[in-house]
Amino acid sequence: MKIISSYSIKGGVGKTALAVNLAFAFREAGHRTLLIDLDPQGAASFYFRVGSAEKFKMRDARSMAEGLRRNIRESDFPGLDIIPSNLGYRHFDILLDGMAKSRKQFRKVLEEFRPDYDVIILDCPPNITLLSENVFRASDAILVPVVPTVLSRRTFEQLTCFFKDEELPCKALRPFFSMVQKRNKMHREIMGELPESYPGFLTTVIPFSADVEKMGLHRMPLLAYSHACEAARAYRALCDEIFSTLNPQP
Ligand SMILES: Nc1ncnc2c1ncn2[C@@H]1O[C@H](COP(=O)(O)OP(=O)(O)OP(=O)(O)O)[C@@H](O)[C@H]1O
Ligand SMILES: [Mg+2]
Repeated sequence: MKIISSYSIKGGVGKTALAVNLAFAFREAGHRTLLIDLDPQGAASFYFRVGSAEKFKMRDARSMAEGLRRNIRESDFPGLDIIPSNLGYRHFDILLDGMAKSRKQFRKVLEEFRPDYDVIILDCPPNITLLSENVFRASDAILVPVVPTVLSRRTFEQLTCFFKDEELPCKALRPFFSMVQKRNKMHREIMGELPESYPGFLTTVIPFSADVEKMGLHRMPLLAYSHACEAARAYRALCDEIFSTLNPQP
């Protein structure tokens, strides 16, 4: 079982668009996939037309796993399940804070799902909290959408510094360019420079596309309604790239 998170400190960079399309792409490739919406905004849950999760009591890792399990919903696409978000998730931090090894508990929680899923995808909110640190330590890959702009680059650099300072697994950080406009000179310049100083950059680029924005109207992943458009092909290519990174050929 692989755990892949979609994360950035910055808001509105394409984390949820990535999470829902990646989940769809993994399921399309035959992997039993679970998408967990950790963001109280609940955008991923909205795209999959599922209501918010029921509240549950969380005392320790086991009760957290049980509560999450009770909230598993089948999506409209067999082989892809979702745990929707709940405003109660904002208490994850308080709960984790009260536990021993408070930065490593979430991995333990997710391990409970190993028999049932090949891939777990986490759609994260744009902040750094104790839950984020748990996500970092639980993830085999942390995918970070970087829009090729000055501020987005700066936020990514802040994240890499945080990882170094906190001795987090830097190798798991896998940034990629998101919402790219090829005609934009600044986008081209930043895309030329940044991967040189950060070798972990994925090569797949997600283009800016009105097709992606329409997910809110269709309420389903782009891959489900526009299978062959440029952005859909890019999400599928990203899925292949991550899969081969996590499962290197001997
Ligand atoms: N490649 C893209 N091209 C055009 N629009 C996009 C693209 N990716 C995402 N969007 C749009 O940009 C907006 C923000 O995207 P999304 O919700 O995926 O970002 P996010 O990082 O998850 O935001 P938040 O930090 O609020 O959770 C949405 O309206 C979405 O439809
Ligand atoms: Mg989001």
